[in-house]
Amino acid sequence: MSNNMLSKDALAGKIILVTGGGTGLGRSMTKFLLESGAKVAISSRKMDVLEKAAAELREETGGEVLPLSCDVRNYEEVEKVFADIESAWGQVDVLINNAAGNFVSPTERLSHRAFDTVVDIVLKGTYNCTLAYGKRQLEAGKGGNVISIVTTYAATGSGFVVPSACAKAGVVALTRSLAAEWGGKGFRFNAVAPGPFPTKGAWERLMPDNVKDLVDIKKRVPLQRVGEHHELANLITYLASDYSAYINGDIITIDGGEWLQGAGQFNPFKQIPSQMWDMVEQMTRSAGKK
Ligand code: HXC
Ligand code: NAP
Repeated sequence: MSNNMLSKDALAGKIILVTGGGTGLGRSMTKFLLESGAKVAISSRKMDVLEKAAAELREETGGEVLPLSCDVRNYEEVEKVFADIESAWGQVDVLINNAAGNFVSPTERLSHRAFDTVVDIVLKGTYNCTLAYGKRQLEAGKGGNVISIVTTYAATGSGFVVPSACAKAGVVALTRSLAAEWGGKGFRFNAVAPGPFPTKGAWERLMPDNVKDLVDIKKRVPLQRVGEHHELANLITYLASDYSAYINGDIITIDGGEWLQGAGQFNPFKQIPSQMWDMVEQMTRSAGKK
């Protein structure tokens, strides 16, 4: 049985661009979008990676995939991607801003160029794609659907990934701002904030082996596990479809409750063994009685 919750024609006729669609979560989303009947263009810097992914995805799904090389930091390259998709298929119905750059580092060890690099890929890359897409759609008298992949720390902030946190917070602001400004023009803008979903790209840069032994990521999640790619891919497929037509301006978290566990002051009390709670209760009941 397929893990895809939507029917094979839920996205029939739709043209979708997934930036960073050749690897990791972008590739998993692309597979589900294809299975639901969309034509999907995938773009990133490495054409060899994109071509290999496109060939595999065609084989796996029978769908139409268009690999296009593009550094999202460069506005002219972004413009060219949309022009190429239009020549091949027509105007893009859904833009998925998924491309990102990130690595863990104490902030004081970062050069200003390292900071720029992450912010340029994540924030500038996202507004480049969103602006180029929005202008083309408006000129053609059409609306659009933009889904941006952020992180839960876009809202909370996080040490050791500060450029990424700043940039993703900017993407959240872009999403909410344009949901209001262009909502009346037939657009909708949403973002998805995933918790931990292991991918080679993220884990090599954020969870290298020597760190993995120190931090058990599963214990940070109330559901005691990491996310599975099909869980995120189903959410993205739904947001790309017209079934979600009334969802606009939202930031949807899919993290097994991870960020809340970190935020709730008394959540670490889960570590208190159940047999100790009788004693704790006795003590709290007797509070103020002495
Ligand atoms: C400190 C570093 C560094 C590191 C690079 N730099 N890596 N500084 N620690 N690990 C510095 C370099 O020295 C240089 O600064 C500047 O950053 C630019 O580096 P380049 O290698 O020239 O950049 P570039 O080739 O553009 O590569 C971008 C990249 C790379 C971000 C550095 O990792 C990349 O291509 N990433 C793409 C994929 C990715 O990051 N995926 C993970 C997404 S996960 P100087 O001063 O020396 O010139 C995610 C959220 C996960 O986003 C949330 C998990 C729960
Ligand atoms: P990934 O496989 O490394 O994906 C990042 C993609 O971005 C790659 O395909 C990369 O391709 C592309 N990219 C990087 N810089 C680019 C640039 N300048 N121009 C164009 N494309 C560029 O990592 P992932 O884990 O799947 O991450 C996908 C998205 O999910 C990201 O937005 C990430 O922040 C988000 N996310 C992931 C997790 C997680 O647990 N994995 C959690 C929260 C959020 P090239 O190298 O070929 O350019």
